[in-house]
Amino acid sequence: MRLIGGAAIDKHRNPLPPETVAACMDSEAVFLGAVGGPKWSDPHAMLRPEKGLLELRSVLGVYANLRPVQVLDELIDASPLKREYLTGVDLIVVRELTGGIYFGKKTRDETVASDLCIYHTHEIERIVRVAARLAGERRNKLCSIDKANILETSRLWRDVTDRILEREFPELETETLLVDAAAMHLLSRPGDFDVIVTENMFGDILTDEASMLAGSLGMLPSASLGDSTRGLYEPIHGSAPDIAGRDIANPCGAIASAAMLLRHSLGLDDEATAVEKAIRAAIAGGARTADIVAEGDIAVSTTEMTDRIVAGLT
Ligand code: IPM
Ligand code: MG
Repeated sequence: MRLIGGAAIDKHRNPLPPETVAACMDSEAVFLGAVGGPKWSDPHAMLRPEKGLLELRSVLGVYANLRPVQVLDELIDASPLKREYLTGVDLIVVRELTGGIYFGKKTRDETVASDLCIYHTHEIERIVRVAARLAGERRNKLCSIDKANILETSRLWRDVTDRILEREFPELETETLLVDAAAMHLLSRPGDFDVIVTENMFGDILTDEASMLAGSLGMLPSASLGDSTRGLYEPIHGSAPDIAGRDIANPCGAIASAAMLLRHSLGLDDEATAVEKAIRAAIAGGARTADIVAEGDIAVSTTEMTDRIVAGLT
């Protein structure tokens, strides 16, 4: 166990201390709790917890962030969307994680601020290949999302994506959407999507949106991978400071991230599937944390939900 984010700022005045980096580099997989909280959220602070997470993603070289969104039948009513849009939704967003506006140069003075969004061809090529290979193992459909009507980085994104897909993955059924339209299509026809590939910030925003298909932000896991099997695993939700310490958070996203860790970094496919089945079984058995509980039902605590999942492991 090593510190990152706010706890690391408090102890070491550094959101990503060197000893944390060393331990992560020396590990086959990194399992991460969320960072951030009101104590460290002064926008003018030099040291921010989020900076530690971005640096960790960068030093680990985990450029491909896989965010699967599955709608479980039992949770359809937890989503604000109508049932007919949700049945059978099973998509995965492949978010570019170590480039774009998150990592470009920032400037700020009294009256003007800027964030540089920059993408290199090789960064686009490698993420598109990851997404395309994944589509080949699934339903052979790939949708690339950009803002090529406005952004130069998106025009490069589109040129590179078209070239790679045409030359290397002609068998895939492909689609390109502008991000604003994609935000709408995700709600109006979520069942049409299989694999979505997009740049860092669009992926951040669209996956919070997509989590509502699954009923709650608390349900979604993620795996961040680079060129080796070493990966960084974290639920897509943040630290939820508003409910901290109350034993009511949904542990499913974190536990499902551990399943992804078993599969992608440790090669333990059967064990990963067993964990995923146990999550489904607990939900099928009626266990629901507050974020996914049906009206009139009683929510279980984080501890109880976790115990039910563990009890269902076979
Ligand atoms: C996420 C989070 C992070 C991000 C924050 C905490 C830096 O929102 O993983 O989606 O923006 O990438
Ligand atoms: Mg996010």
